[in-house]
Amino acid sequence: MCSIIGYNGQLFVAPLLVDSLKRMEYRGYDSVGIATINNGKILLKKGVGKVLEVDGTLDLKSMKGFTGIGHTRWATHGGVTEINAHPHYCCTDSIAIAHNGIIENHRELKEELIDLGHVFKSDTDSEVIAHLLENYYNDQKNLKKSVMKTCSRLKGAYAFVAAFEDGTICGSRYNEPLIIGTVDTGNFLSSDILGFIEFTDKAIFLDNRDIVILDSNTYQIYDSDGKNVDRTATQVAWELAAIDKGKYSHHTLKEIHEQPKALEKVGISSLDKIEEFCKVLSKSKTVFLTGSGTSYHCALIAKHLLSNFGKIHAETLMSSEFQYTLAGVDNSSVLLAFSQSGETADVLHAVKAAKQMGAKILSIVNVSTSSLARISDSFLVTSCGPEVGVAATKSFTTQLSLVYMIADRLCNGCLGFSANRSLVIDAICEVLDSEKEFCGIAEKIHPARDIYVLGRSIHYPIALEGALKIKELSYIHAEGIAAGELKHGPLALIDRDSYVIILNPSDSTSDRNIASAHEIKARGATIIGISDLPNEVYDIFIKIPKIPSIECGAIYPIIEVIPLQILAYYLSLVRNIDPDYPRNLAKSVTVM
Ligand code: F6R
Repeated sequence: MCSIIGYNGQLFVAPLLVDSLKRMEYRGYDSVGIATINNGKILLKKGVGKVLEVDGTLDLKSMKGFTGIGHTRWATHGGVTEINAHPHYCCTDSIAIAHNGIIENHRELKEELIDLGHVFKSDTDSEVIAHLLENYYNDQKNLKKSVMKTCSRLKGAYAFVAAFEDGTICGSRYNEPLIIGTVDTGNFLSSDILGFIEFTDKAIFLDNRDIVILDSNTYQIYDSDGKNVDRTATQVAWELAAIDKGKYSHHTLKEIHEQPKALEKVGISSLDKIEEFCKVLSKSKTVFLTGSGTSYHCALIAKHLLSNFGKIHAETLMSSEFQYTLAGVDNSSVLLAFSQSGETADVLHAVKAAKQMGAKILSIVNVSTSSLARISDSFLVTSCGPEVGVAATKSFTTQLSLVYMIADRLCNGCLGFSANRSLVIDAICEVLDSEKEFCGIAEKIHPARDIYVLGRSIHYPIALEGALKIKELSYIHAEGIAAGELKHGPLALIDRDSYVIILNPSDSTSDRNIASAHEIKARGATIIGISDLPNEVYDIFIKIPKIPSIECGAIYPIIEVIPLQILAYYLSLVRNIDPDYPRNLAKSVTVM
C-alpha cells in the first residue's frame, strides 16, 4: 500500500527519487518523503499530500547527494501527518528507513526499545525498524548482521529500505514486493519496476527474507542466514514506462478510452495458453474462482460463463473470505485467481492456502512479473499496459475478454465472442463516442444521496461493478442489487430521492427488469435505463448498441460496464473529486 524506493549511484538522487515516487504514487498517496545522504549526513524532508504538492512546498528535488531513499504512504498505523510520513530516523539520525507493510508485533518491539532508551517520534509501526537497526548496529558494527537480526525480530509483512550515513542502502522483504533495478549509473531498490523503468529494464525479484546491500556500483544479495545468493535478472517491458496521460485530463479517462485497443490484442498471442487453461479447467472436479473488488466481479461473471457454456462446476469466493471456507479444496480442484496487480495480499493469501490444500493454481494478471504470476502453475496476461487510475477499468474488460475466450473455446464457439470480437469492440467504441452525453447525465444526478444499480443473472456482477465505480470515484453511496432481490428488502429504501440504474439489454431477463422498473417508478425514484432499446419507464436512457449476429445476452456485460465507468468518471468531476486518486484508497492493496 506504500511505495518505497532506494538508489545508490552516480546520478543526483533527489530528482530521481521524486520522479520514481510520482510513478508509483498509485500505491498510496497521502504523504511523501525522501532522505538523501550528503557528506556523511542524512538529510530528510517529508510532508502530507501528493508527490507534486510536497515537492512544491518543500523543494524535495533540490536535496543534495547521490544516495537516498523515498516513500509514498497509505496510512495503516498512525494518522496522516508529517511526523508519521516516512522516512523515519533512528534516535541519532544516522539511519533512515522507509517501509511498506504492517509490522504486527510493533507494540512489543517498541516497548522493548523504549526500555533500552530509544525515543520514538511517530505513531507508526514502521519506526521500530529504524530503532532495531540502530540497536543491532551499535552492538555489532556490522551492517549485514544488523539487518539480519532486525528482520528476524519482525512479524508481519514488510519490504523496507534503509539508508545508513556511511552511504550504504540496504533492504529486505517478506510478503511485500522489493525489486532491484540495475544499470551502469547505479542500483535501485523499489516496490515496483515503475520505480526504475525509465533507467533500466533489468529487474531482479527478491525472494522472501532476502537481504540486499547496495553500494554505489554493486549490490549483494544474502539469504536470511547471511549466505550470498544469486537471483536471476528478468527483462521487463519498457512499454511500462509509458504512463503519461497523453491528451486526456486524467489517467482514468485515458484508460477507459484505451479499452478498444487493449481488447483487440488481448489473448491473441496466447491461444496455446488458453487451450492449456481449458484442458486444466475441464479436468478439475471443481474450479474455485477468486479475486478482490473489481477482479472479484470478473470472477462472478466467469462462474456464469464456465458453468453455462463450459459445463464446469465452478464456485466463486472473494479472496478476503476464501481462508474461512477452504473445505472442498483438494488436489482435484483448480483455483483460478484474477488480479490486475498480481500483488493483492488477500488474493495471494487465498492462492497460498489453496496451493497448500493441493489445488492447481491458474491466474489472470496484468503484470507478468507479479507475485501472483510467479506462484501460479500457469498464468494468462491481460497485457493492457499499466493501469494508473485507482479505479480498475481496462484491466477488468481485458480480464473479461480472456474469460470469454476460454468459455467460447470450451463450448466450441457457441458463445460467439471470439468470432464477433470486432463487433463487440465496435459497440464499445460507439459508447465511448457518446462520452460527452455522460457529462450532462452526471450534472443531473450528482446531488444523489443513493444510487442503486440493478441487474439480473450475468448482469448482476456488472451492477456490483457499476456501484463500486460510482462509490469509489464520486463518494456517492451506491449499491449493486440483484433485481430479483428487490422485493426481499431493498425496495424499502426507494423513495423520490433515489436514483436507480437498470441494466437491461434485450435478453431473457428484460421483461422482468421492466416490471421491476415500474415497481420502482411507482415509489417516485428516477430510473436510468442502460439498454439497446428505449422504454417509456426510463427517465434517462443510455443506449448501448445491439450486436445483431450475437443472440446470446452473455456478451453484454463487457459492453454495459463502459457507460457505468464513464458515468462514474463524470460524477467525480462534477463533484470536484480527483478520479485518479480517490481518498483512502490505493491501487495496489498489499496488506490484508
Ligand atoms: C476497484 C478496484 C479494486 C481492485 C482490487 C483488486 O476499481 O480497482 O477493487 O479491483 O483492489 O485489485 P487487483 O485486481 O490488483 O488484485
